[in-house]
Amino acid sequence: MRHHAFPDGLTRDTLIDWYRRNRARTKALFGMVAPEAYYDRPIALRNPIVFYEGHLPGFSVNTLVKLALNRPGIDERLETLFARGIDPEDETAVRNPTDLWPAPEEVQSFADACDALVEETLRSAELENDAVPALRNGEAALGILEHEQMHQETLLYMLHQLPFEKKVKPADAPAAMTVPSRSAPGRVVIPAGRATIGAPRDGAFGWDNEFPEHAVDVPQFTIEAYNVTNGDYLEYVQATGAPAPQFWHRDGDDWLWCGMFARSPLPLDAPVYVTHDEASAYARWKGCRLPTEAEFHRAAYSTPSGEERQHPWGNEPADSTRGNFDFASLDPVPVGSYPPSAWGVYDLVGNGWEWTSTIFDGFEGFEPMPSYALYSADFFDGAHYVLKGASPVTAKELVRRSFRNWFRPGYPYVYATFRCAS
Ligand SMILES: [Fe+2]
Repeated sequence: MRHHAFPDGLTRDTLIDWYRRNRARTKALFGMVAPEAYYDRPIALRNPIVFYEGHLPGFSVNTLVKLALNRPGIDERLETLFARGIDPEDETAVRNPTDLWPAPEEVQSFADACDALVEETLRSAELENDAVPALRNGEAALGILEHEQMHQETLLYMLHQLPFEKKVKPADAPAAMTVPSRSAPGRVVIPAGRATIGAPRDGAFGWDNEFPEHAVDVPQFTIEAYNVTNGDYLEYVQATGAPAPQFWHRDGDDWLWCGMFARSPLPLDAPVYVTHDEASAYARWKGCRLPTEAEFHRAAYSTPSGEERQHPWGNEPADSTRGNFDFASLDPVPVGSYPPSAWGVYDLVGNGWEWTSTIFDGFEGFEPMPSYALYSADFFDGAHYVLKGASPVTAKELVRRSFRNWFRPGYPYVYATFRCAS
């Protein structure tokens, strides 16, 4: 491996350390599942929990060892099973899950074998080779590391829907953070200007939908300094009879927040987590709209002087003093708890992904990534919207300006909020 191939001083040791940190966090997340829930499917259209325990290490073997390096894996049958899962249309309803899926011990010993093989590969294989598309700039090695971190977040969405009695709260689960809310600063006018979107093809890792870098001229617009809160949304629900968000539970006259392990009084000053459909309807009721992806970039990364920065807080790297992300908390905190962007807009990155009005698509010049050709292109169907920013459980390695997330407009399980623009 040529040392210059990986940006930011990444070495084999840092990649192995990153892989181990990922695996430790993933194991802690599966440790939250009571044994009797192992084959449950808390979100009907997703695979059962067992799939994900095999999928994460299996994907790393499939992508780095087999696809990129063309070396043998461990167990062809399990690698195929954990690449795709089982089509839910396929008679699963009538069969016992243990007829279809391996026992927990079999999944875990497969995972252990994958871990040993992946670590050995990170230690000694040729991870960067310009002549092999999936190894260009270390794509496969970095891709498997970020893939696991993205799944940790979506796994938490899924475990959020598992009944409390089927979950075990870890002893070291982060406590709810108590940070004071600031007084509402209202709306901010962002003057017309340029947003740099995407990432340059300079060798640094990014997913295919982040490339190439390009500039967009954005007309003047107005955006709210704070996310819409549960308190704001409650007024709307009471005024219009709109349905309550997925994360709320009605208890007589009271509304409760459904956290990961318990219900608690609805935190009125935290951002509301809603679908794109719900966010758009609220915005229409308020006489405004959701911001575009380019407007998000202007509000988050541009400055009155014309300079563009890497993060809303400046160019310092992402850490938990800058925003509510990287598993500092499993819950949102009051809006305005962290430093704002140069325009005085709060919580653009962290405390919940932000829905935009932009339909997910490739940028002009999009090319599918060789190590994972369908990562994005499978979703260029006009039926998914771009989200920007980060949630409390988005790993700090994924907090970068060009990172894009996407979901269907009615998918209710995401830690996603919004703010109004006009
Ligand atoms: Fe995956």
